[in-house]
Amino acid sequence: MESVDTAGRRDALVERLFTSTLGAWDLLGVYLGDRLGLYRALADRGPLTSAELAETTGTHERYAREWAEQQATAGILEVDGAGRFLLPAGHDEALLDEGSLNYIAPIAKLVVACTEPLPQLLDAFRSGQGVPYADYGANLHEGQAAFTRPMFEQLLGSEWLPSIPDVHERLQADPPARVADVACGAGHSSQAIARAYPKVHVDGIDSDAASIDEARRHLAGSDVAARVTFHHRDAADPQFAHRYDLVYVHESLHDMSFPVDVLRACRGLLAEGGSVVVGDERVADRFAPPGDDLERFYYGFSLLHCLPVGMVGDGAAGTGAVMRVDTVRRYAEEAGFARFEVLPIENDFYRFYRLGG
Ligand SMILES: C[S@@+](CC[C@H](N)C(=O)[O-])C[C@H]1O[C@@H](n2cnc3c(N)ncnc32)[C@H](O)[C@@H]1O
Repeated sequence: MESVDTAGRRDALVERLFTSTLGAWDLLGVYLGDRLGLYRALADRGPLTSAELAETTGTHERYAREWAEQQATAGILEVDGAGRFLLPAGHDEALLDEGSLNYIAPIAKLVVACTEPLPQLLDAFRSGQGVPYADYGANLHEGQAAFTRPMFEQLLGSEWLPSIPDVHERLQADPPARVADVACGAGHSSQAIARAYPKVHVDGIDSDAASIDEARRHLAGSDVAARVTFHHRDAADPQFAHRYDLVYVHESLHDMSFPVDVLRACRGLLAEGGSVVVGDERVADRFAPPGDDLERFYYGFSLLHCLPVGMVGDGAAGTGAVMRVDTVRRYAEEAGFARFEVLPIENDFYRFYRLGG
């Protein structure tokens, strides 16, 4: 006979996974609404019937109706007295406002991206090989860019960098400073730094061709286009040695197959007195399950994306998103940095490190 404990644990897990399924449906429904412009149509022209929604978005009415009903059933949309669908105030910011720190819709693209190379991931589990970043497709780099963009635009140049006084001063001083934004992705961080510091020149560097294309597209015609340049190259490439006052590396060190080589190259990029600042996942100091929500959030991405991309190449480090302070310290030491500091910058998602010497 099973014990009360066993039955209770079983029932709790069954209930929990059932609830998780509802969460999965929420995210996949948000993905469809985002990609198909359904939320945008409701925000701009709502309330709408399913026929009007379909007409406005170039979708088939039967599909638009099922989506809208699913969304209303889940409480993401509402239905007015005439049976038309509407996006309630507040939900529009979370789902559509690309500049808001509350813009959560890109998470859906990231989750979908994580599922795209699943057959490869199953093979990788058995072979020990990695899954290349590019194989996660546009959902990954577009979702990542949209997720970090508001933080770069609102925090990087006005809060994070100003809280490192000597770096902040150097970026404002003459002769104009040079910044390397290593693993810049779609380059919103490079633009944000250039906008916050009107004298600096920023070189954004990334090894993913699609991300650099996206970065160049966003930059074209912008107010900082003359002071930002994007380069499609590996961060370990030593071509730009000794010219940077700041090397910034955001949410990418843990993705790198050879993080020590990259940090060593970053050290080589520094001009006299320059610093490397790394922003990466704010995970716990040690493995102590069960973890909190943030630890679970990062382990999920790690399992499906960050670890596999960091396993590409012979002898890859295989760090994963759950890169703890001790690991960063060890990588910094192995790369030859004499100084390692966890910066006192508060953020829910990221912890910041300064490497120098
Ligand atoms: C999670 S994304 C972060 C992008 C951006 N920094 C952001 O925060 O939105 C990780 C990035 O690291 C880049 N990357 C990984 N290894 C690299 C390397 N060795 N050299 C240059 N870029 C690299 C990937 O191409 C990808 O754009």
